Amino acid sequence: MSETTQPTTDQPLETTSGETTEAVQDEWRNHSFDGATKLAVEDLDVHYGEEHALKNISIDIPEQSVTALIGPSGCGKSTFLRCLNRMNDRIKAAKIDGSVELDGEELYQDGVNLVELRKRVGMVFQQPNPFPKSIRDNVSYGPRKHGDLDTSLFSRLLGRSDEAAENELVERALRQAALWEEVSGRLDDNALGLSGGQQQRLCIARTLATDPEVILMDEPASALDPIATAKIEDLIDELSEQYTVVIVTHNMQQAARISDQTAVFLTGGELVEYGDTDQIFENPESQRVEDYISGKFG
Ligand SMILES: Nc1ncnc2c1ncn2[C@@H]1O[C@H](COP(=O)(O)OP(=O)(O)OP(=O)(O)O)[C@@H](O)[C@H]1O
Ligand SMILES: [Mg+2]
Repeated sequence: MSETTQPTTDQPLETTSGETTEAVQDEWRNHSFDGATKLAVEDLDVHYGEEHALKNISIDIPEQSVTALIGPSGCGKSTFLRCLNRMNDRIKAAKIDGSVELDGEELYQDGVNLVELRKRVGMVFQQPNPFPKSIRDNVSYGPRKHGDLDTSLFSRLLGRSDEAAENELVERALRQAALWEEVSGRLDDNALGLSGGQQQRLCIARTLATDPEVILMDEPASALDPIATAKIEDLIDELSEQYTVVIVTHNMQQAARISDQTAVFLTGGELVEYGDTDQIFENPESQRVEDYISGKFG
């Protein structure tokens, strides 16, 4: 890893404006973005055994916006994303220190209900991973499992059956994921018969069906063709009116197009710069970020 020519953090001047890295980081740590803070990450460190995968990350993520995480392979983007809904808990070797607050509530404390947390902070992965079940079942699976289909006595008294409640939920989520028009006539077909781009939108619908507040996406369009990618990008733009979206992408143009804020991680698990997307792409403070964005390394 140290074979690359990028400067190390102890070199005093490595920003385009000639300030120290510390000064730049202090600035963005104190920068307040538009909108209330949804996720507040403070002094986050992740180790996998001996490996220090994320180093002292502090970042505030504002609600109802899109935050892009970019950086070279292995710099810790997926690790960071998984910290936001405690998915790293499932990895035995992972040791997490520091704080992540969701709406001011600490996620890393005893007694947090992880099932509830992952409903509030849903996740969409790089490879579409629908269940080998019908399109309808894929969407209604989560709410059924959590007992959230509207099956209350009150609904029954009003004459609403489980089936009607399920149909309504499935249609709402599929419409939100911009897939309804394409699948409304074949809801009972196996989801594995959909195209890759359709499967990914189905996975987004499945996440939306559990009524999340935050949606984490790890390179959701990297396996898709340009048309399917454009659909996902439009969808993300729409979702950000209601949800807080945090997305990892290797596609710089995509980050520039769809995000409000961009966080740049670089090799070694450091968050080097975080700011408004326009500023990061047009006028980054850090020389290393400028080099990365202009393709000099990465
Ligand atoms: N489950 C794991 N067990 C051990 N080490 C891991 C695990 N997951 C990630 N790592 C290590 O942590 C570092 C960061 O990995 P991570 O997957 O977060 O990077 P990334 O930025 O998402 O990379 P990519 O762009 O290739 O997806 C890497 O060095 C990786 O080898
Ligand atoms: Mg990754």
